[in-house]
Amino acid sequence: MDLVVERDYPTLSRAAAEVVTDLLMAKADARLVVATGETPLGLYRNLADRKVRGQIDTSRLRIFQLDEYLGLTLDDSRSLYRWMREVFLEPLAIRDHQVTRLPGDAPNPTAACRAYDHEVEQAGGYDLAILGLGRNGHLGFNEPPSDHDAPTRVVTLSPETVHSNARYWGGEDRVPRRALTAGMKQLLAARRVLLLVSGRGKRAMLARTLEGPETPHVPASFLQRAEHVTVITDRDAMPMPAVSFPGEV
Ligand code: F6R
Repeated sequence: MDLVVERDYPTLSRAAAEVVTDLLMAKADARLVVATGETPLGLYRNLADRKVRGQIDTSRLRIFQLDEYLGLTLDDSRSLYRWMREVFLEPLAIRDHQVTRLPGDAPNPTAACRAYDHEVEQAGGYDLAILGLGRNGHLGFNEPPSDHDAPTRVVTLSPETVHSNARYWGGEDRVPRRALTAGMKQLLAARRVLLLVSGRGKRAMLARTLEGPETPHVPASFLQRAEHVTVITDRDAMPMPAVSFPGEV
């Protein structure tokens, strides 16, 4: 695992944008699975700026949805697809045919998860997984306990995740209790994983991700066994003694 400690959230976002830009330069038809949530928003804004300036080409990318609440239609304001569309797909001019959804509104969600895994496999797996870290150690909605080989599936959200996500939707009763998530198996097989971690509230879980034993109780700890993982964190989330940056005393 490579660990990159940045001064703050804006520099973290720029560093992440460099990693993604380098990949897009090397492989314009890369396959990406992308998180929603707050942490990657700065990265997505950076990429959108680069797109406007003509520095990146997104016309051949293939995008996979990371997770979705069960039972929500695309128009529901809580749909994670809708969130991804607003912060990532539209700003980067990515068209519908480039995107594989995890359809929370499918009549048979379990069959939809199998179809999703089949599509990921047929495509040759993910080139890059852009992930955030849950306060309970989840990746996507792989809630604890999730083993390293858990497939894409329907899950029940932990009370902690429901509580944490209530801030997005204005109260816990607005948060669906079940969801679909790309599996640990698919995520850990990505050619590269970019894990973004920001803020003091993630510090304890980042320590367990980086150094704790690999355990289903901290799904993110399985990143220790993945092939090419880059963790970009800001200082607030760093569990180790403070790092100093040039120009600081
Ligand atoms: C979102 C997702 C989640 C978040 C995680 C961190 O699609 O899959 O795993 O990445 O909960 O969320 P933030 O970034 O809001 O702290």
